[in-house]
Amino acid sequence: MIRGVIERINGSLVIAQFEAEPKIGDLVEVGNLGLMGEIVRLSGERAAIQCYEVTSGIKPGEPVLDTGRPLAAELGPGLMGTILDGVERSELKLWEIAGPFITRGVRIAPLDREKKWYFEPKVEVGAKVVGGDIIGVVQETEYFQHRILVPPGMEGKVTEIYEGEFTVEEPVGKLKTPEGEEELKMMQVWPVRVPRPYKERLPLVSPLLTGQRVIDTFFPVAKGGAAAIPGGFGTGKTVMLQQISKWADADIIVLIGCGERGNEMADVVTHFPELTDPRTGRKLIERTVIVANVSNMPISAREASIYLGVTLAEYYRDQGYDVAVMADSTSRWAEALRDLSGRLEEIPAERGFPAYLADRIAGIYERAGRVVTLGSERRIGSVTIIGAVSPPGGDFSEPVTTHTLRFIGTFWALDTELAFRRHFPAINWLRSFSRYIDVASRWWSQYDAAWAAMRARALELLEEASEIEETARIIGEKALPDEQRLILLIAEMIREGFLVQNAFHEVDTYCEAEKQVKLLKAILRFYDSVEPLVRKGIPIERVREMRVITEIMRLKERRGVEAIERVMGLITEQARALAEEYGVI
Ligand SMILES: Nc1ncnc2c1ncn2[C@@H]1O[C@H](COP(=O)(O)OP(=O)(O)OP(=O)(O)O)[C@@H](O)[C@H]1O
Ligand SMILES: [Mg+2]
Repeated sequence: MIRGVIERINGSLVIAQFEAEPKIGDLVEVGNLGLMGEIVRLSGERAAIQCYEVTSGIKPGEPVLDTGRPLAAELGPGLMGTILDGVERSELKLWEIAGPFITRGVRIAPLDREKKWYFEPKVEVGAKVVGGDIIGVVQETEYFQHRILVPPGMEGKVTEIYEGEFTVEEPVGKLKTPEGEEELKMMQVWPVRVPRPYKERLPLVSPLLTGQRVIDTFFPVAKGGAAAIPGGFGTGKTVMLQQISKWADADIIVLIGCGERGNEMADVVTHFPELTDPRTGRKLIERTVIVANVSNMPISAREASIYLGVTLAEYYRDQGYDVAVMADSTSRWAEALRDLSGRLEEIPAERGFPAYLADRIAGIYERAGRVVTLGSERRIGSVTIIGAVSPPGGDFSEPVTTHTLRFIGTFWALDTELAFRRHFPAINWLRSFSRYIDVASRWWSQYDAAWAAMRARALELLEEASEIEETARIIGEKALPDEQRLILLIAEMIREGFLVQNAFHEVDTYCEAEKQVKLLKAILRFYDSVEPLVRKGIPIERVREMRVITEIMRLKERRGVEAIERVMGLITEQARALAEEYGVI
């Protein structure tokens, strides 16, 4: 451990002079309070330290201590269902110890050192194991089985393995390695800024289903892919991330609240644990880890929180799980980066952000993926990363949004105007995109071979409608030819009957895949049934009066798909009746 002395303090940035040269990225204890910090810049023995706690009260001349270790996550049983801050201290524990305004320098070990877990071995004495191999399991929550892995880089022959109750630090076995005998423990440590290794990156093969129609049907994200959801104030980012947390077909959810307002985070702390998990009927929190800064921690702790969250996700991926990471919002994280860069007096690039902003954003989204994990047995896991972006004034041309756009596969553009009209989710269908359509098509074809064609057709109709609306604004809708007015009607049906989805409606909050396909099919069936009639001169007003329209619009709020089948029949019947009335068969 290298000692040093504080020279200067500028907000969360502390300049210190060390006795010998420390390493960049090292964790440092700062001042008499022993605040936590990280070396972010170095020139010889002088170091700039980013402090993760409020620095008021410490003075130049006070000591600093380089721990020689990087900012690292402790990984093992005991994280599931907890709320951690950006540097992996349990927020709830801190809250219990110190109340909402945390006494600085309070140290609690991230993983509970006292709690005993029942370890059930999965290897026998004599077995040869390598990094990534499962040596045993712990039933951490009723839902979640924690697989205990040999840490990356370690290998050897099992000489002892025990069954029973152990703490995360107690040995559960011994390994004879080329370097000598080593203890196997349930806990491992990993530096958060370094991606965890895997054997092989795999192509993405299935969508992450969310039960949200505009996402699954129009702008899907692949399991192992990356998505961004940018939107101005109050456009629905948080609700969407919560919906995805609740409904996505991921095994594990990591929710990162990067420096949201304190009271908002307090809401997450009190509200989220109440949510019921629709998959298990138990509490959603049992398969969720939350990284959030409830306490009044400085901006710099946000910067670390995203790396901690992604590291946790990779650790569960390595156990063979599909993990979804939700970050709300990456803009706050980028602002922390900007703040720090300013204090370091770096030359600012666009809007004060450092020139390395794009690299840092890439560094996060690149940690998404579907991989073959380390270990002798073939195991597949995935990390999907979804980041909310809050561009100031909802202006998507700002740097965080534009850089993010380059590194993600799905872009859900939230629209202030749609949110204002209470069209939720306010995802603009003209500005959003997904690069995972091929992956999704293959998967959706199990329900309907025509999925890709239907999706493309619906989007085309929506696009056409928006052009027609432009004209209608000038000459009035009534002046348009009936074929065009029919397209406006269909677009309205797609919008109101399909895209709009109420997160707070008992049934509509989730829409299963089969129902999504059939619902879209019903709307398109309606179009195909009436379009020839309109072309043959049946007035659009008569089409608008068809009773089946109301039925179609209500389908999303009906459970199951039987109602859709019935309405399909009604469409044909009523279209035929109308045709007969006008004698245009
Ligand atoms: N899918 C939805 N269904 C119904 N209402 C919604 C939906 N999405 C958003 N809303 C409404 O919009 C409000 C604002 O949403 P939300 O808090 O998610 O926005 P935000 O983009 O996270 O805002 P901020 O910029 O303040 O973080 C919600 O309180 C809710 O009333
Ligand atoms: Mg929000």
